[in-house]
Amino acid sequence: MNSPLAQFVAGMARLVEQRDQREAAVLDEACELTRRLVARDDWLAQEFAQPDARFYRQYLLYGDPLQRFSVVSFVWGPGQRTPVHDHTVWGVIGVLRGAEYSQRYAIAGDALIASGAEQKLQRGEVDVVSPALGDIHSVRNAFDDAVSISIHVYGGNIGAIERSVFRQDGRRQAFVSGYSNPLAPNLWWRG
Ligand code: FE2
Repeated sequence: MNSPLAQFVAGMARLVEQRDQREAAVLDEACELTRRLVARDDWLAQEFAQPDARFYRQYLLYGDPLQRFSVVSFVWGPGQRTPVHDHTVWGVIGVLRGAEYSQRYAIAGDALIASGAEQKLQRGEVDVVSPALGDIHSVRNAFDDAVSISIHVYGGNIGAIERSVFRQDGRRQAFVSGYSNPLAPNLWWRG
């Protein structure tokens, strides 16, 4: 029996091969696959669930060899948060363990404006980002005393994509996130 992760990767591989590559169709299916993946929490290897005392971790679980998608475990230590950032490709986030808060932003002129209220994403729930639907957000662990983990799938090799972090005055700074597991076997195509 294939593991949930192997089934997920197989589903994603089929999805990026299908004829209808419109973002809405891809996201619908990617959300459904992600929902199924995070419905149970007994498959993530310990080494990809380790928090770091200082920074949140992003472990590459699988990278498509043609860079059409990548799967990452995002591990939050207590109280950790991201800067405001974008992705430039679609992404689906599913909470595997704990919970997280997401705040979306829009650029208005040269200012960064919070868009709507902060949203809590509970275990088992999924959320999406994309340049078409809203691509700028900051995310934080919902807990100050526990680890949370979400599983992300992106429409590209997210660790190698040049994207942006945003300062409060709206100024952007280029960044490439990389991955927390630089020895992952298929990272030879990184960058
Ligand atoms: Fe993000």
